[in-house]
Amino acid sequence: MANAPIPMIAGNWKMNLFHNDGHALANDIAEKMLGRVGPSVDVAICPPLTLTGSICAFLSATPLRVGAQDCSPLQTGAHTGDISAEMIANLGCACCIVGHSERRRDHGETNQVVHAKAESVQRTRMTAIICIGETEAERNAGKTLEVVTKQLQESVPEGSGSANAVIAYEPVWAIGTGRTPTNAEIAEVHQHIRDLLFEMFDYDGYAIRILYGGSVNEKNANEILRVPHVNGALVGGASLKADTFWQIIEAVPKPSEVSAPVRVKA
Ligand code: 13P
Repeated sequence: MANAPIPMIAGNWKMNLFHNDGHALANDIAEKMLGRVGPSVDVAICPPLTLTGSICAFLSATPLRVGAQDCSPLQTGAHTGDISAEMIANLGCACCIVGHSERRRDHGETNQVVHAKAESVQRTRMTAIICIGETEAERNAGKTLEVVTKQLQESVPEGSGSANAVIAYEPVWAIGTGRTPTNAEIAEVHQHIRDLLFEMFDYDGYAIRILYGGSVNEKNANEILRVPHVNGALVGGASLKADTFWQIIEAVPKPSEVSAPVRVKA
């Protein structure tokens, strides 16, 4: 059994929180992290862009990382309202979410756009958190693995690896609904993603983190984070309160509790 990757818990604040509440939340989580004793875990928060610069500045000396929720695929120029990955990196961000299903839904983002965004994130040396996941209709039609395969193969750039890419499997129907797949369903998809990453990136495919996202909370985190090939969580609603987000971080298993069998290439 190879060493499992260090788990990651990322909070996606989406379009929530103004200055005071956002700063207080970031501060609370950073304080808890400074006093934490427990298994290694990378923790990131992804505030709305209005707060990113100021939160990056005051968290710079703490282990809490800051990410963005989206970026333009373009580097510079006449693109009113857009923000490039370079600008986000320049604020001090460590990572940027791309291809979230809400962006795919609200802004018609295709796998090709997501691929271009991930590449621009990786050019800056930030980590791209690349989101994929099936809709409820696709799951009911038995197409989950087919959909996830196409999204992964078309959205993840060739130059990806464990140093610059994280995959987030977020079933669209589980986001913000309080519904989650069964552990067996999560295990099936994460194993499938792991196999695809192995095909695409050889043994480094085993070190690329695969996060689960969709209605993760302080009650179900313990079980979900122990599903094989679940290397952490991308958390929405439950990341907006320090207590619930912290309980999810505390639910991260010790390396000895994680089973993630590695295949050998024929
Ligand atoms: P919820 O945790 O609110 O379901 O959101 C998940 C998500 O979309 C994280 O990116």
